[in-house]
Amino acid sequence: MYSRVIGTGGYLPEKILTNHDLEHIVDTSDEWITERTGIKKRHIAEDDQTTCDLAEQAALRAIEASGKTADQIDLIVVATTTADKIFPSVACLLQQRLNIHGCAAFDVQAVCTGFIYAVGVADNFIKAGSAKCALVVGAETMSKIIDWSDRNTCVLFGDGAGAVIMEASEEPGVLSTHLHADGQFEKLLHVPAGVSHERHKLLDGEAHLQMRGAEVFKMAVTTLGRIVDETLEANNMKKTDIDWLVPHQANIRIIQATARKLHMNMDHVVVTVAEQGNTSAASVPLALDTAVREGKIQKGQTVLMEAFGGGFTWGSVLMKY
Ligand code: UT7
Repeated sequence: MYSRVIGTGGYLPEKILTNHDLEHIVDTSDEWITERTGIKKRHIAEDDQTTCDLAEQAALRAIEASGKTADQIDLIVVATTTADKIFPSVACLLQQRLNIHGCAAFDVQAVCTGFIYAVGVADNFIKAGSAKCALVVGAETMSKIIDWSDRNTCVLFGDGAGAVIMEASEEPGVLSTHLHADGQFEKLLHVPAGVSHERHKLLDGEAHLQMRGAEVFKMAVTTLGRIVDETLEANNMKKTDIDWLVPHQANIRIIQATARKLHMNMDHVVVTVAEQGNTSAASVPLALDTAVREGKIQKGQTVLMEAFGGGFTWGSVLMKY
């Protein structure tokens, strides 16, 4: 028994923030951001627009694309770092919006690797026979945890949501998932405040993302290179067996490094970072949805999805689409 992706969906908030707009907010330039990151613009949620609002739109599109109805879903997993409330989970809020009752619904928190983790969880639920039709979402409003006076980070992130429906299938879908973490790197990329630590910052609106960018960059490149090898080896595959790379969209230079590692032409790498920036857990499902809807990824092709993020966490999913 396999789990198989049978529908994808994505949603980006309407408001767009360009590099030129950012030139009026912090000491930066379109040239610097483009050269160092490949980002040209990002979408930003309205003040009253929540992560669940974005997740709902992406989920509805994925459900429609799958040909299923919401009442057939028996598992909801949402990957997010920017939940609407401390509790209930975004997955439970989403369940309510979709008018589904009773199935398991929970959030997964692995920052930028969240969607890869969530697919790993759903794949195992389906393979174990605990679910038949899972809704898996990556949704973020990163703009709400950004320090808009910090040029090191505010130029990088954006908001959005991506979703997939995964169904139990005898035909191969997900071939393997590889999930990793190393908590010793906590302080290189974190929001150093929360409910039980420096709570006053949370209450005062000072809980902001902090990153030691250059160190994260180096770790991301080497770690993603390793996960590519691990994934190919586990499946007894060669680099040339991969039809599409769907990477986490943090920085075009990191994406190019992984593509080089795979000896892969950039024509077979899905890149959305220029238009969307880094949407954390939403970036991989948004990129997947873009490539599917553009008719690039075709049924039966082999797709490698990978991500690296805060924790540190990292992982990959290899699947036949
Ligand atoms: O998704 C989770 C994982 N996150 C990532 O993978 C992000 C990984 N890191 C990166 O993508 C890159 O490290 C950055 C894009 C964040 C930074 O690029 P970099 O080439 O590593 O630059 P840097 O941090 O070494 O900074 C170079 C210079 C510094 O100036 P000095 O000290 O050399 O004078 C920065 O102060 O660029 C300066 N700088 C900026 N200049 C203009 C930093 N941010 C900006 C900015 N505009 N927005």
